[in-house]
Amino acid sequence: MALQRPKGTQDHLPDGSPKLRLDVSARAFKHVTDAAELVLERSGAAFMATPLFEEAELVKRGVGGSTDIVRKEMFMVYYFGDHGGYVLRPEGTAGMVRAYLENGLKQLPAPFKLWTHGPMFRAERQQRGRLRQFHQVDYEVLGSADPLVDAEAIWLMMQVVRELGLKGVQVKLGSIGDPEDRDTYNAYLRELFAGHLERLSDDSKERLARNPMRILDSKSQEDQDLISELNVRPMLDFLGTEAAAHFQAVRGYLDAWGVDYQVDPSIVRGLDYYRRTAWELHHAHIGAKSALGGGGRYDGLARELGGQDTPGIGWAFGIERVLIAMEEEGLTLPAAAGPAVYIAALDAEHVPLAASVALGLRSGLRADFGYKPQKPGNAFREGERRGAAYTALIGSEEAAAGTVALKHMVSGEQHSVPVSELAAFLREAASAAVSKN
Ligand code: HAM
Repeated sequence: MALQRPKGTQDHLPDGSPKLRLDVSARAFKHVTDAAELVLERSGAAFMATPLFEEAELVKRGVGGSTDIVRKEMFMVYYFGDHGGYVLRPEGTAGMVRAYLENGLKQLPAPFKLWTHGPMFRAERQQRGRLRQFHQVDYEVLGSADPLVDAEAIWLMMQVVRELGLKGVQVKLGSIGDPEDRDTYNAYLRELFAGHLERLSDDSKERLARNPMRILDSKSQEDQDLISELNVRPMLDFLGTEAAAHFQAVRGYLDAWGVDYQVDPSIVRGLDYYRRTAWELHHAHIGAKSALGGGGRYDGLARELGGQDTPGIGWAFGIERVLIAMEEEGLTLPAAAGPAVYIAALDAEHVPLAASVALGLRSGLRADFGYKPQKPGNAFREGERRGAAYTALIGSEEAAAGTVALKHMVSGEQHSVPVSELAAFLREAASAAVSKN
């Protein structure tokens, strides 16, 4: 059997592929990153890209040693003779903050808004919308602890989703407080679960020692049953005065801007760097356990990575999950733009001429040509199949006169146009078509 792609990965396919779906369409991925670029760059965010692999230590310190991501889902990177100190990045934030600190971006005016997109890697069990290589759009703001920045981040995330036409997205907003609030909450959880040790999964017994709050995020059904039986009080009940005021301020801005959200007192998030504001985007078709996206504030992260104290906040959404949601809502991509012209030779002798006319046009226009001679009917069908605005034929008569026989694919109108004037003709026709729309 021919070799196949690794489990939990997908090929991003071109239009016309027999197995095309929206969540594996290369054009759909670009459609999502284009929408993000439009919205985020309007807000002043700058694009930045970081390596696909990083020091394992960065991810351990950033994402947190007690998270499932670090304990179970890291892809290690080995090369000959290496000690294996690198991992494929499971998320973008730790790398973005590292790059911000390492490259002196802190000297630029704050807050500094950054965005990126690209593949992330987590060795999770594969399901629909849960992959080992998935893709995120990621937005990060560094250098401000102002709740206005939190509210703007949430607004922007919803704006991207709206730009894509998605309707059924819900924002679930919470706060996980400051580290002192978390200590109080963890002490409460330790005491609560201590009497039920035998019912906790092995993983959660370990979580109880390291970071009890992670138990609430457990994927084990027994753990979740115990959590609901015990009526565990949410983190939101344990916020200190400052974290509570910050949360109220974020809500105040969102209310003023008419952003629709639900307060979710039990939000935990799967990464350890968060503090204060934390939220997730959910969609009915993605399932309650998986989010379309998530984000939060991470004011302690820069310090944790060995840098100067720098407040930060950001979010990421999974492109595959967004595309699944779009497909479920019946959204489709705008039609792909075809070439301005498809050029066919009527006999073998004139194929090189058709090719050189097409190549000449490509300094400003998209022009395709046929590699084999074609009869006019077949050439027109091929032009139509490719979505060309015009099909041009070159036979002996045209070659001798230095012209092409041009047919408009929609109106059927035909012209004889000198090759020397073809670029100008096609450009004018294209701008007339745009102004007519
Ligand atoms: P996260 O919640 O771990 O946050 O991931 C964000 C999104 O990535 C998820 O909501 C989901 O859409 C997608 N995602 C995660 N894992 C998978 C998977 N295995 N397969 C498919 N999609 C997946 C973060 O990664 C944070 N770095 C977000 C952030 C940015 N916080 C602050 N700044």
